[in-house]
Formats: sequence, C-alpha cells, structure tokens
Amino acid sequence: MASLMSLPFAAYLIFFFTLNLMPMPCFSCPQEHKEALLEFKTSLTENLLAANSTDEAMVTELLESWNSSSDCCQWNLVTCHSHAASASKRITGLDISYLVLNGSVPSDVLAPLFRITTLMLLNIASNSMQGEIPGAGFANLTKLVYLDMRENRFNGYIPPQLFQFRYLEYLDLSGNFIQGEIPAEVGNLTELRKLSLRQNKLSGRIPLSVASQLRELQVLELQDNFLSMEIPAEIGNLVNISTLALSNNNLSGGIPQSIQKMSKLETLALDKNILNGDIPAWLFELRELKNLHLGGNKLRWNNSNVTIAPKCMLSQLSLRSCDVGGPIPIWLSNQTRLDLLDLSENRLEGAFPLWLAKLQVGILFLSDNELTGSLPPPLFQTRSLQVLELSRNNFSGKLPEDMGENCAVMILMLSENNFSGPVPKSIANIYRLLLLDLSRNNFSGELPIFKPDALLAFVDISSNKLSGKVPATFGLNTIILSLGQNEFSGELPKNLSNLSQLEHLDLRDNNITGDLPTFLTQISSLQVLNLRNNSIRGSISGDLSNLSSLRILDLSNNLLSGNIPPRVGNLIAMIETPDIPTSLPGAFFSFSVEYDLIVNWKKSKQGLSSHNLDIYSLLDLSNNQFSGNIPSSLGRLKGLKLLNISSNELSGSIPLAFGDLESLETLDLSHNNLSGQIPETFAKLQELNTLDLSNNKLVGHIPESPQMDTLIDPNIYANNSGLCGVQIQLHCPEEHPPSAETDESDEKNDTWWFSWATAGIGFPFGFFSAVASMYVVGYFGTVATRTRRGSQCVWQR
Ligand SMILES: *[C@@H]1O[C@H](CO)[C@@H](O)[C@H](O)[C@H]1NC(C)=O
Ligand SMILES: *[C@@H]1O[C@H](CO)[C@@H](O)[C@H](O)[C@H]1NC(C)=O
Ligand SMILES: *[C@@H]1O[C@H](CO)[C@@H](O)[C@H](O)[C@H]1NC(C)=O
Ligand SMILES: *[C@@H]1O[C@H](CO)[C@@H](O)[C@H](O)[C@H]1NC(C)=O
Ligand SMILES: *[C@@H]1O[C@H](CO)[C@@H](O)[C@H](O)[C@H]1NC(C)=O
Ligand SMILES: *[C@@H]1O[C@H](CO)[C@@H](O)[C@H](O)[C@H]1NC(C)=O
Ligand SMILES: *[C@@H]1O[C@H](CO)[C@@H](O)[C@H](O)[C@H]1NC(C)=O
Ligand SMILES: *[C@@H]1O[C@H](CO)[C@@H](O)[C@H](O)[C@H]1NC(C)=O
Ligand SMILES: *[C@@H]1O[C@H](CO)[C@@H](O)[C@H](O)[C@H]1NC(C)=O
Ligand SMILES: *[C@@H]1O[C@H](CO)[C@@H](O)[C@H](O)[C@H]1NC(C)=O
Ligand SMILES: *[C@@H]1O[C@H](CO)[C@@H](O)[C@H](O)[C@H]1NC(C)=O
Ligand SMILES: *[C@@H]1O[C@H](CO)[C@@H](O)[C@H](O)[C@H]1NC(C)=O
Repeated sequence: MASLMSLPFAAYLIFFFTLNLMPMPCFSCPQEHKEALLEFKTSLTENLLAANSTDEAMVTELLESWNSSSDCCQWNLVTCHSHAASASKRITGLDISYLVLNGSVPSDVLAPLFRITTLMLLNIASNSMQGEIPGAGFANLTKLVYLDMRENRFNGYIPPQLFQFRYLEYLDLSGNFIQGEIPAEVGNLTELRKLSLRQNKLSGRIPLSVASQLRELQVLELQDNFLSMEIPAEIGNLVNISTLALSNNNLSGGIPQSIQKMSKLETLALDKNILNGDIPAWLFELRELKNLHLGGNKLRWNNSNVTIAPKCMLSQLSLRSCDVGGPIPIWLSNQTRLDLLDLSENRLEGAFPLWLAKLQVGILFLSDNELTGSLPPPLFQTRSLQVLELSRNNFSGKLPEDMGENCAVMILMLSENNFSGPVPKSIANIYRLLLLDLSRNNFSGELPIFKPDALLAFVDISSNKLSGKVPATFGLNTIILSLGQNEFSGELPKNLSNLSQLEHLDLRDNNITGDLPTFLTQISSLQVLNLRNNSIRGSISGDLSNLSSLRILDLSNNLLSGNIPPRVGNLIAMIETPDIPTSLPGAFFSFSVEYDLIVNWKKSKQGLSSHNLDIYSLLDLSNNQFSGNIPSSLGRLKGLKLLNISSNELSGSIPLAFGDLESLETLDLSHNNLSGQIPETFAKLQELNTLDLSNNKLVGHIPESPQMDTLIDPNIYANNSGLCGVQIQLHCPEEHPPSAETDESDEKNDTWWFSWATAGIGFPFGFFSAVASMYVVGYFGTVATRTRRGSQCVWQR
C-alpha cells in the first residue's frame, strides 16, 4: 500500500486487480451490499426521471447489469475483492463518475452506499450532486483509500468525518462550492498522496498541519479559492511533492525559502496571488522543475546581475508582471523544451531574439513590453507555434511574406505596434487560425482573401491604413469583424451577407459610399452594427427590424435620408436585451471571448466591458439627413440606454411614448426642427442623466420630476422657441401661446455649446487582450477532462 503513487482511479484499479489474482471462490457478493446498490440505482433513476433528465436513458443503460438475480461482483462499475481468510467476496470499488452530466441530483441518493463499509475506492466525480457532503454517512466508509468527488455541486463545509480516514491516499473535492476554512484536522490524513481542493470557495490560511503532517503528499492543489495569509514557511517539509498549485488565491508574503528542499518539485504554480518580494534564483536549480507560474503577483525579478544557469528543463514559464527589465533573458536559450512562455507586462526591451524564434515555443506571450525591431522569420517556420501575443510593444517592419506557409498558429495578436507594409497574402493559408488581431498598426494595401471554410472567427484589423474595396472574403465562421478606422472605400459588398455567423460588424471611420444596402438585414445573427462616419446614402429599410439580435446600431455621421421607419421600433433585442454570449461554436476549445467596446455615452467615451455588454442597447442615427416625424414606435425600445437622433432634419413633436424608455440614460434630440411641447411623460424617465433638446423649436413647460429637476444645465434647452420651467429658472406664464418668437440671444451660446464626442462605438485598448489567457485555461482544461465514454472504457477492461 505504501508504494501506491497518487495515480488516477484507473491505475488504482489495476493495482487492485493485480492483488486479486488468486483463484476466485464461488461466493457472490454480500446480499445487503447488493441491496444497497439496487436501492441507489432506483433512487438515482427516479430522481432523473422526475427531472425529465436526458441522462436517465444513459444511466439505465450503464447500470443495466445491476439486477437482483445476478452476482453484484459481475456488475458494471463495481469491483470486488476476495477475502482470503474467510473465502468470501466483498465490494471494494465503485466508480459511478460521469453518470449525471446535466441537471442535478440531491446528494441524498448516495445514502444507500454508506452501508457498503468495505469500500476502498469510491469515485462519484462529475455527477451534478447538490447539497452538503453527507458527513455522517461517509463516517461509515473507514476503509477508503481513494475518494474522488470532484466536479459536483457540493456546498457547505468539509465534514470532519472525512479526516478520519486513516488509509486515505487520494482525496479530490475540486470543482465544488465548498466554503469555510481548511480544518487543521486535514493533517490527520497522514497517508495522503494527493489532496485537491481546487476551485471551491475556501478561505482562511493554509493550515500548518498540511506542511507538518502530510509528509507523503505528492500533489497539493489548492488553486482557485480565496485562501489568504502567507504560505506556511514549513511547506518545504513536503519533500516528496511534485505538484504544488496555489494559484489564484489571495496569498501574501514571499516565496518560502523552504521550497528549495522540494527536490522532486515539477510544478510550482503560485500565479495570481498577492505575493511580493524578489523571485529567488534558486528556483532554477530545482532539477525536476518543469512548470513555473509566478505571474500576476507583486513579485520582482531582481536577478539582472546574477548569472542564471538553470539546472531544470522547463516546459512552462510564466513571469508575467514580475518587473523583468532589459533584454529577454538569454539564459532561456537552453530551455529547449519550453512550450509556454509568458513574459508579458514587464519592462523588456531590445529586439525579438533569433534564438527565441528558433526555440519552437508553443504559446508565447510578450505583450505589454517595450520590445522593438522586426520579427525574425524563423518564428513562423515552425508548426509548434499555437499562440503568439505581442500586442502593445514597439515592434516594426514588415511581416515575413511567407509567414503563413509553414505555420499553424491559432491565435495571432500583434495589436498596437508599428508594423507596416502589406498584410502577407500567405496569412490566409494558416488553416488553424481562429483569431487575428492586427489592429492599431500601420498596415497598408489590401487584405488577403480568406477561404470560405477558414476557421477564422475573430478578426480585428481596425486602425490601420488598409485601403481598397471593403473586404468581405472571410471565412463563413466569422463572428467578429472589426475593420474600422481604415481607408476602405466603395460600396458595401454583397458577400458580407454570406457571413451568417456574424455578430459584430464594425466599419466605422472609413470612406464607404453608396446606399445603405438591404442585404445587411439578412445577417440575422448581428448584435452590433457600426457604420459610423462614412459617406453612406439612402434610407433605412424597415426590414432592419429582422435583425432580432441587434442591440447596438450606430449609423451616425453619414448621408442617410428619408424617414426613420416605424418598424425600427420592432428591434427585439433593444426592447428586451437578451443574454447572448459571444462564443466559439463547437471549436477545439471551449473558451469565451472577451472584448470591450467604447461608446459615445453620457457625453464622454465610455468603455463597455463584455461582462455586461449584453445589458447595453444603443441607437445612434445622429448627423444624417433624416426627415419627417419621429415614429412613436421608438418608444417601445425599452432596453435602450442611449438614443441619439440629433443633427438631422426631423420635425413634428417628440412622441409621448418616449416616456416609456425606462432604461434610457442618454437622450439627444438636438439640432432638429422639433416643435411642440416636451411631453409630460418625460417625468417617467428615472434613469435619464444626459439630455439635449437644444436647437429645436420646442415651446412650453419643461416637465418636472425628481430626475428632470436635476437636468438644469441651460444648454440642454438652449435655442428653442420659448421653453420655460424651474430647470432654467424661467417662470412659465399661465398659458403658453404658440409663439414663433425666439429668444435670439441664445444664438450666441453656440460658441460654448459642447458637441458630442466624435468617437462612436469602437474598440478601446485591449480589444482581445483577455482572450489569450482564456485560451490557456481552455488549453489545460481539456487535458484534465475525461469523457463519460472514457470512464466506461476503464471499467470494461
Ligand atoms: C417533466 O415533463 C412532464 C411532461 O412532459 C411535465 O409535466 C413535468 O412538469 C416535467 N417536469 C419537470 C421537472 O420539468
Ligand atoms: C440537459 O437537459 C435539458 C432538459 O432537462 C435538455 O433540454 C438539454 O438538451 C440537456 N443537455 C444535454 C447536453 O443533454
Ligand atoms: C441480470 O443480468 C445478467 C447479466 O449481468 C443477465 O444475464 C440476466 O439475464 C439479467 N437478469 C434479468 C432478470 O434481467
Ligand atoms: C453505516 O453502516 C451500517 C451497516 O454497517 C448501517 O446500518 C448504517 O445505517 C450506516 N450508516 C449510515 C449513516 O448510512
Ligand atoms: C486529528 O487532528 C487533531 C488536530 O490536528 C488532533 O487533535 C487529533 O488528535 C487528531 N485525531 C487523530 C485520530 O489523529
Ligand atoms: C517519499 O518517497 C520515497 C520514495 O518513493 C519514499 O521512500 C518515502 O517514504 C516517501 N516519504 C517521505 C516522507 O520521504
Ligand atoms: C485579499 O487580501 C487583501 C489584503 O490582505 C484584502 O484587502 C482583500 O480584501 C482580500 N481579498 C479577498 C478576495 O479576500
Ligand atoms: C536587488 O536586490 C539587492 C539585494 O537584495 C538589493 O540591494 C537591490 O537594491 C535590489 N535591486 C532592485 C532593482 O530592486
Ligand atoms: C546590479 O547592477 C546595477 C548596475 O547595472 C547596480 O547598480 C546594482 O547595484 C547591481 N545589484 C547587485 C545586487 O549587484
Ligand atoms: C544551460 O546553460 C548553462 C550554462 O549557460 C548550464 O550551466 C546549464 O546546465 C544549462 N542547463 C540546461 C538545462 O541545459
Ligand atoms: C517606436 O519605434 C519607432 C521607430 O521604429 C520610434 O520612432 C518611436 O519613437 C518608438 N516609440 C516608442 C513609444 O518607443
Ligand atoms: C474619401 O473618398 C473621396 C472620394 O473618393 C476622397 O476625395 C477622399 O479623400 C477620401 N477620404 C479619405 C479619408 O480617404
């Protein structure tokens, strides 16, 4: 037993099977244990049936062999062990992992299992179990060696009964909602090889007893919790440890010196805490070290003068935001097995070294440094490169023309550098490319033509000097297409409507001409459409209302004319803002894309984070030549936070229905020919904090309400035909005769009139910056995921 390593369940099983090679006596399993299992089966299937769960059929199939007339030692998922002394059999192992993938089952269903006190191995991982861990029941299972309860929905505290398992070698409670502190009694589990409590809601300090008593520990995973205070200085007592993962907590203090004693350490993950102090050079003398993650702390790299001669062969190194200055450290050059290197958010300067380009790193982050010069062509001569993130440096020069011929990069981010010249045609040959971010550089010329079956889903080439016709030859999987702030000209191409997955189309600040095409209304997945600041003519088609996901529409600063069609009031996503997360459909990895928007909101540029992007609904038609009345159907767009139809030729009165725009925070109707009174219904606009009604022909009493009474800037109402009210300290006469007389003195106010910020909806700094780290999470996440099929295979062996 003592030689058991911390291996996954399958390996434990093989171990038990090999113990079990003695001739099988012909006793079947104990009757009471059989009954317990059948009771469990009934309870589970009844629960799934009641919830109409799609898993019911699968469970019934997997547990088909569980019937009362057969020997339960022959049942699927059950392991027995002959007891030599009494020549009887007993149930020692039960793997009921991955039975319930969907919905949830209460942890009560486990109750019958606690009568099988002979269990040594119990795996209930990934079953959507809900409720507290049934401590009283577990107290019965004193023989447990292996207990896996990861990826359920257990909540509450860790029950103290779990610390009474004197033989326990493997305990995995990761991926639940367990809270409270880790009790010091965990130190009673002196046989533990692996302890994983990652991804819960644990708080408090790491108990000293972990470091002083769990001497056999090989894997300690406490990452993704809320643990605080310092890492116990004695942690180095765990001399057999190979994985120490404490990432993403709130741990403070320095890196304990005692870690030097961990001669078998392979993975040290301390990233995303608030650790401080210097990064010790001795880390690189740990010979077995392969994965070192220190990024996202307050640690400092103070080894510039020290010659580092690493004794380890690293495969992953993260020194993100560790205050590393100077050139990219040359000592990395003999780390020839490096697969992930993250040196982003440092002060690195100098060129991209040739040796690094030849190192064949798979995932390389060097963003947010001060690196200069051009990229060495060998960087793209390898198929190992998967992610290259170089944003926000000062790289320059042209990209190698043949860069796409031999490379298989999936995520390429070069935003905010000084790259120039054409975008190499060969980029369209990178068959795995999913995300291309070339924004904020000086690329010029035309874009390459991507094949329709390209995987490319996220494209940002905004803020360059690209020219020619508006490109539309992208893969049919494109979800985000950002082409703004370039020099594209001509009409909008018809094949844009082939991009049937497109959620986000940004063509702002180009030189697009022609009529607003109706085919745009066929891209039914569109959520954001930005054509701001072009020279587009024609009128809006009522068919625009077919875009049932459209939440943000910016057509401002164009030459559009005609009426605003009443059907614009049917844009469903502006009525009730739906929750449609942007995600990559069925691709390799399940990662969601984060991006931010900047909008012209509340008279200043505002960044909108994607975390709550779906709550923003904006409509901007300003600075065009729209005429006629404002359709009162616009009042139905209850989700709108901003409505800007200023600087048009709109006439008639303001619809009463505008009082129904209950989410509205910004309303600009200025510079039109609107007449009549401001509707009294404005008193209902409780969120309104930015209003502009100036330069119209409005008359009469300004409605009063707690909110309206805060809008007292006279410019809001300036240059109308006789407004009065407390807001502008102008007493209204008893009646307000429709007077054509204007207070001419208001004209002078034009000089100090604050016009709307010129920037519309667009991407600020860091459009895709969060993507890459999400990608890495996905990358490592998939490795750890076992499918249900996999689980079955283990058992059928
Ligand atoms: C399950 O389906 C039945 C009939 O289709 C329905 O009456 C019942 O409400 C559903 N139960 C749940 C929990 O959805
Ligand atoms: C999960 O269950 C719901 C109904 O309970 C069903 O609509 C959905 O398709 C199921 N998902 C999977 C992946 O089985
Ligand atoms: C019970 O399961 C065994 C296989 O494990 C099968 O041979 C037998 O026919 C089943 N009996 C019933 C009543 O389903
Ligand atoms: C513990 O096991 C015994 C049989 O060995 C059983 O009678 C008892 O109900 C079990 N306790 C719990 C809480 O399941
Ligand atoms: C369990 O741990 C606690 C505190 O660490 C200790 O007081 C107690 O004696 C231990 N129990 C056993 C059975 O070792
Ligand atoms: C560590 O591992 C070695 C070799 O596997 C073993 O001999 C030793 O007992 C283990 N435990 C400690 C505390 O060294
Ligand atoms: C993390 O620790 C700091 C100071 O130690 C404290 O201010 C902060 O609230 C903690 N954050 C969490 C999430 O526990
Ligand atoms: C580096 O560490 C040494 C000794 O700990 C200290 O004297 C020096 O000031 C540190 N340098 C920087 C740049 O922090
Ligand atoms: C490191 O070198 C700098 C100059 O390059 C010097 O100012 C500093 O004192 C040196 N630090 C140590 C710890 O030697
Ligand atoms: C890396 O090179 C240094 C000398 O520069 C050497 O001492 C060290 O052993 C090498 N490390 C590896 C892992 O090859
Ligand atoms: C970036 O590099 C260019 C030369 O390629 C230089 O003119 C410019 O000043 C640099 N910008 C910064 C911020 O270092
Ligand atoms: C836009 O196009 C017009 C006519 O083709 C041209 O005169 C103008 O310079 C262009 N503007 C820009 C910014 O390219």
